[in-house]
Amino acid sequence: MERRDVRGHYEELAAEYDEHWVYGPHYIPWMSGQITKALRLAPTDRIADVGSGTGLFAREVANQVQPHHSILCVDPSAAMLSQLGTPPPTGLTPIVASAEDIAERRTRLPYDQLDAMWLKESVHHVADPEHTLRGLADRLAPGGRLLVVMLPELTPDSWSP
Ligand SMILES: C[S@@+](CC[C@H](N)C(=O)[O-])C[C@H]1O[C@@H](n2cnc3c(N)ncnc32)[C@H](O)[C@@H]1O
Repeated sequence: MERRDVRGHYEELAAEYDEHWVYGPHYIPWMSGQITKALRLAPTDRIADVGSGTGLFAREVANQVQPHHSILCVDPSAAMLSQLGTPPPTGLTPIVASAEDIAERRTRLPYDQLDAMWLKESVHHVADPEHTLRGLADRLAPGGRLLVVMLPELTPDSWSP
């Protein structure tokens, strides 16, 4: 998909995006727990979800981790970010920007450095992933963690408690 088509695709999908998560009620808490564990998230961390979409997972990670700093929900689609709500929930800060904007420092962030960031099912939209992931990693503080998440190859039963 061309970049402008990607933007249009998500602008159209935004309002009903969350309804597509039909795996069952356990999937979002389970996946958010996996992200929290893999990134070893702590309440003091400064965290970004790059390509956050509607913030489905950032919201649940915030519930689980109770971070002291608002989680940055970064996405180039304002329509997807608008699904966070107006105003956005306490603990989530929407930022309209692409992964490339963050990597190339075209977008100013509220934190000088980040302790953890993840890209969940958004890295395939990035034109030059190697270069952009390097740039994103450069925005991390010493000891910072970066996680790329794809869809799990599991059956819905795998994430039922
Ligand atoms: C499949 S959705 C995933 C959303 C969310 N991470 C989730 O798992 O529910 C892909 C998201 O990547 C965003 N996206 C598209 N191009 C991007 C880019 N260059 N950098 C960061 N995010 C991008 C889209 O706007 C969309 O919200």
